[in-house]
Amino acid sequence: MNSTMPPTVSQPMVSIRNVRKKFGDLEVLKNVSIEVPKSQVFGFIGPSGAGKSTIVRTVNALEGIDGGEIWVGGVSVHGPSTDLNRLRANIGFVSQSFNLYPHLKVLENVALAPIKVKRQPPSQAREYAASILKTLGLEDKMDAFPTRLSGGQQQRVAIARALAMEPRLMIFDEPTSALDPELIKEVLDAIRGLLATGITMLLVTHEMNFAREICDSIVFMAEGEILETGAPEQFFSHPQTQRARDFLSAILNR
Ligand SMILES: Nc1ncnc2c1ncn2[C@@H]1O[C@H](COP(=O)(O)OP(=O)(O)O)[C@@H](O)[C@H]1O
Ligand SMILES: [Mg+2]
Repeated sequence: MNSTMPPTVSQPMVSIRNVRKKFGDLEVLKNVSIEVPKSQVFGFIGPSGAGKSTIVRTVNALEGIDGGEIWVGGVSVHGPSTDLNRLRANIGFVSQSFNLYPHLKVLENVALAPIKVKRQPPSQAREYAASILKTLGLEDKMDAFPTRLSGGQQQRVAIARALAMEPRLMIFDEPTSALDPELIKEVLDAIRGLLATGITMLLVTHEMNFAREICDSIVFMAEGEILETGAPEQFFSHPQTQRARDFLSAILNR
């Protein structure tokens, strides 16, 4: 199979087509299809175990698939000849665990992949890393070791590290779920700041107000299926399914 499509003006950044995935006998993705146009922000919401993490993880091949296909920027993610290192260099992935390198200072954490993977000259990579850290309000933390930072600061470093690769797509899987409540806002502000860059984003979150504010579309999943997709106003004000109504009333009345 050819692993590149000819580019077209309307080519979506992410195209998920009829994807199926099992863990053993458990069907965790049942015929999932989503088209994410360039520069759009898609929010994935739904109950625990819905398959939200699994679907976003299949997009950069952290998980395999058992059926269907996924294209990112015209590249077949699960195609037999796909260069996964090259693909992943274009996709930033931030989860709830920051996974910073504890033995490297903040600046070196951020500059490492551009130096190692993109073979950028170290001085250039460090300069760019410093500029990103500055935009995320971390200019005074560049020489600190990650363990000395708060969770919110560590997560912003993780975002900076992903951005240093100049990805075309950012995936966030519950980026604030491991944070104390008072540290959530600074991370959401960092994500909000990316909107102006026009980068395409997939965001799995339980922060409903934030999703409503920044997303172009909401994808509501339960039990491995997409039950609703639509504009945030439509979804949050007029959910179409009982499952979504139940979910929203449970999460909004916590
Ligand atoms: N590595 C795995 N092995 C087996 N089952 C898994 C694995 N990862 C996830 N699952 C199961 O797949 C389903 C979907 O999980 P997940 O995508 O993490 O859901 P969500 O992110 O919406 O909470 C759940 O039933 C979960 O227990
Ligand atoms: Mg999850």
